Amino acid sequence: MGGDHRLFMRRTGTFTVVCTSGIAVSAVLIQTGCGRETAAIPPAAKRDVDFIKDVQPLFKEHCYKCHGSSRQEGGLRLDRRDDALNGGDGGPIFAAGKSEESKLIKYVAAVDPDVVMPPEGDKLSDEQIGLLRAWIDQGAKWPKD
Ligand code: HEC
Repeated sequence: MGGDHRLFMRRTGTFTVVCTSGIAVSAVLIQTGCGRETAAIPPAAKRDVDFIKDVQPLFKEHCYKCHGSSRQEGGLRLDRRDDALNGGDGGPIFAAGKSEESKLIKYVAAVDPDVVMPPEGDKLSDEQIGLLRAWIDQGAKWPKD
């Protein structure tokens, strides 16, 4: 696990640096997968999305196992509002209105094929990713309860 962890962080670092260095290195971008960045992310759902009905069940089924009460991989907990809003070891994982730039979306959409959430088991479907995107774009409303 220790080895995996380092690999993950290193790859994430490379990804960010390469992607922000722009057009001059487009050959490198294609090689690393950055060129697929927007193409790889399914579109946001067009309907109104509700956190309790649409988003929470998805987190529960696919994420709580590793980001819930018993485990908080990457320092991330998705079963409690305030923890989720604070994000993980790398800080916030989504920004209201900006689904495409949100780490949460990049990871579930496997923008970097080496970093995908969940890391094992079924990947989220395009519809599910579309729901998460719409939720973030519609303000990422997470009711207090
Ligand atoms: C089988 C376990 C597992 C499942 C299930 C899982 N994750 Fe993760 N997740 C991890 C691990 C391990 C890390 C930390 C990787 C690292 O730092 O090397 C992580 C890290 C993350 C991070 C980065 C946190 C940070 O600040 O660096 C995000 C975002 C994330 N997961 C989102 C999700 C979402 C959303 C789901 C559900 C769709 C999910 N994960 C399901 C294991 C899991």
